[in-house]
Amino acid sequence: MGKSVVVIGAQWGDEGKGKVVDLLTDRAQAVVRFQGGHNAGHTLVIKGKKTALNLIPSGVMREGAPCYIGNGVVLSLAHICGNPRLGIKSELETVEATGMEVRSRLKISEAAPLVLPIHARLDQAREKARGEAKIGTTGKGIGPAYEDKVARRAVRVGDLYQRDLLAAKLGELMAYHNFVLTHYYKEAPEDFQQTLDDLLAYAEVIKPMVADVTEHLRQHLKRGDNVLFEGAQGALLDIDHGTYPFVTSSNTTAGGAATGTGVGPRELDYVLGIVKAYATRVGSGPFPTELEDGPEGIGAHIRKVGDEFGTVTRRPRRCGWFDAVAARRSIFNNSVSGLVVTKLDVLDELETIRICTGYKLDGQVIENPPIGAEGFEKVEPIFEELPGWQSSTFGISRYEDLPENARRYLKRMEEVTETEIAIVSTGPDREHTIVLHHPFD
Ligand code: IMP
Repeated sequence: MGKSVVVIGAQWGDEGKGKVVDLLTDRAQAVVRFQGGHNAGHTLVIKGKKTALNLIPSGVMREGAPCYIGNGVVLSLAHICGNPRLGIKSELETVEATGMEVRSRLKISEAAPLVLPIHARLDQAREKARGEAKIGTTGKGIGPAYEDKVARRAVRVGDLYQRDLLAAKLGELMAYHNFVLTHYYKEAPEDFQQTLDDLLAYAEVIKPMVADVTEHLRQHLKRGDNVLFEGAQGALLDIDHGTYPFVTSSNTTAGGAATGTGVGPRELDYVLGIVKAYATRVGSGPFPTELEDGPEGIGAHIRKVGDEFGTVTRRPRRCGWFDAVAARRSIFNNSVSGLVVTKLDVLDELETIRICTGYKLDGQVIENPPIGAEGFEKVEPIFEELPGWQSSTFGISRYEDLPENARRYLKRMEEVTETEIAIVSTGPDREHTIVLHHPFD
């Protein structure tokens, strides 16, 4: 019997999902992305060599396993195929440069909506207009592309192969958005003919990869294959359950694995929730456990040791302590079966480590996190302090080799989240991993 495992970020993204997916792919016969777009950044380190992926599932870095991009993903064809005129590098070529075969192994859903250059223009124009109140998006056009999907005016992959239909749909979409760009934001319009010509060129490149992804996945499951569902971003950035409006525009939670691929929810067997041993957030929005203790403080130390800079935008990430209140909600939202704790080694030098175990709102202890950003902004974290281990855990691959205080910290994380830890990551490489419970077992 095969198993379906969903890997999701249980915080604000950047938890290290790429490494975990790569690690689990040696037991999977298929890997599928189900939401997000090229706003995601997954850094993989294999035998010391770094590869950063945005759209192609991280499973592509293992020989063999077919990779899928599901209908829930918004697809930038410029990013997949590259466009020298726009200075955009092809992600297909990035993978090929590592020596991996990709074109015969990647399948893209016909139902995936496209992210167009005009979406990125709108995203950036809006952020500029918002000024101080900006969301801090990646500026890639993800929000506007999802809006078009819900507004039922998106151009989808399948439309690329009916020239007249494509021109009509694209014309309608661009006329609408160019009106807003020029009249509301007072920006230059985006060129329709150029967009159409580019799309027709990309369409030829991806043609052999376009497929009914749902049917492929059904066949895998019928054969008893293990299937890995690869999430992007994190649960606290979910459009419904995150710190709205400081969120991304898709369902980053595990339910998205079903809707974003067409595989029904009863097929999903195990949800692996990835958390860092601390917390980070990139972009604006509430972050109760944030360390705002200056350039010499612990926040800056974590940023430096953990190399906490955005993969997509290189923005410095905000750093803070592990937040068990947010994690507990996230664990419920996602039906998390087991946790992966990543970047434990980043805490190696600290004398004491804090965990947020509760929130106070207006002087009262509250059990559950508030809904949305406004409530979240007002909570005060309640911390508990644990002794650090002050020795290196970097690269450790056996639980018993961890210092006692590191084991104590992990144990406490399990207690306060009421969830077992399945895997611990002690460094960026595949080998720097302690597997306590393999999700495919
Ligand atoms: P958007 O997804 O570009 O619309 O950005 C919305 C919010 O999600 C911003 O706060 C981004 O910084 C955040 N975000 C989007 N993708 C990622 C990611 O892969 N990791 C972490 N944060 C992300």
